[in-house]
Parts: sequence; structure tokens; C-alpha cells
Amino acid sequence: MTASRRPLIAGNWKMNGLSGDGLTLAAAVADYYKGKGAASFDMLICPPFTLLGAAGGAIEGSGVSLGAQDCHMAEKGAHTGDISIAMLADTGCSHVIVGHSERRTDHGETNEVVCAKAEATNAGGLIAVVCIGETEAERDAGKTLDVVKTQIAGSVPGGATAANTVVAYEPVWAIGTGRTPTSDEVQDVHAFIRSELAGKLGQDHADGIRLLYGGSMNPGNAKELLALADVDGGLIGGASLKPGDFGAIGDSC
Ligand code: PGA
Repeated sequence: MTASRRPLIAGNWKMNGLSGDGLTLAAAVADYYKGKGAASFDMLICPPFTLLGAAGGAIEGSGVSLGAQDCHMAEKGAHTGDISIAMLADTGCSHVIVGHSERRTDHGETNEVVCAKAEATNAGGLIAVVCIGETEAERDAGKTLDVVKTQIAGSVPGGATAANTVVAYEPVWAIGTGRTPTSDEVQDVHAFIRSELAGKLGQDHADGIRLLYGGSMNPGNAKELLALADVDGGLIGGASLKPGDFGAIGDSC
């Protein structure tokens, strides 16, 4: 972490949460963050679409932000089952996760699709959390930096700024597995991402954009990961479903 970039602790609930447990969780996160007073970090929860309205109510006034896990790139129209940015904004969302590896894998989302979703997010005045990261096979083949380079070139909009974009590095093999890269590996990839962003967007934007690490972040490893110079927060799946763990990660900032 670096003083000039305010850390962001983001919870990606994935396909978890019904009105009972989901709203209890949202309220617990709100209580935790309110209890921090003037926290030195930002907190974001990304519940499933079905809970956005109610979870938004549960965190109202707490300072916790609300995000969605996906969006459609079109403004409106004949896209059965999809959700537009205007709908998400109308529900109180300020952030949208785009290009999560589970979307890339389960729904065949390409860098082009991810970029279009990020552009739509920004055009609607919301912040895109653009996810990138290599698979285990790519890592084993020594291709991590090549993959990340291609994903940045293809998924991050040319108009990305510190105000409208967050980039999350999530090695696919670390998601939900309890495995993480070493701290040196994380820092090296994050520094590389920032240099690629500088080449694409200019140094000022690259210096301001927050880079989150995601993949099995938990209370036991958060402090070390969040202390790295180019890690500006976390995108947290499993541990974000446990209010105590999510709060402990916040406390690590
Ligand atoms: P995990 O998921 O924390 O459960 O590994 C992270 C993510 O997929 O965003």
C-alpha cells in the first residue's frame, strides 16, 4: 500500500446469499465499518443481483459501497436475463465487477466483451473493477506476464482513470483454493500491471489506479499482501461471506 492510494477492501459474494443470511451479512459489514469511524480504507460489497436493493438498504449511511458482479454492455433492449448499468445505478450501485475469471470461463467472456462492459460501466458513471489473471497452466508455462499484458491491453478501456477504474489481479488457480502466490510474486505482477497501465494510459493514471489482489485472501495472509507497495486492497470471495473474517481483513489495512 502507498499513502497516495486509499485501500479498497471489496467482497465478491458470488452466487451466495438469500434474504435472510445475505441481509444479516450486509448489516454486519455496515456495523463493522461504522465502528471504524473515519476508516483509512474503502469497503465495498458485491452481493448477487437479487439482493442489491435490500443490501443497499442495509448498508445505507454506513459508508460501505455497493457493487454488482456483472452487467450488460448495452443501455437497454432485448437481452433477456441481463442487467444494464442504468438499472444497477438505479439500485444504488457505484461499482461493477467485470471480467471475473468465472464469467470468462462460465460465459466465454473475451477481453473485448470485458472491455465493452467496463466502458458501459464508466459511461453510466460507475466504477469498473476489471479482473485479470492467469490460469495454472499458463503460470506453469511461464506465461503469467504475457497473459496479464494481453488482458490489460484488451480489457481495460483506453479512457480508464483512477476515478473510474480499479484493476483486480486474481490468479485463477488461487481463487477459492487456499493457495496464493508468494508475496514477491504478487508484488512483481502488480508492479508489471502498473507499468503496463502506464504505457497504455500514462503514468499519472497508472499511479492513481488501485490494484487489488484477489485469490484466497484471508485474515491470515491479508496483512502481508496488503503491505506490498503495489497492492492497494483486496477482492475477497469466500472470506467476505464471514463478517468476522472480512472485518479482520479490513483491520489489516
Ligand atoms: P476467493 O475468491 O477469495 O474465494 O479466493 C476471490 C474472487 O474470486 O474474487
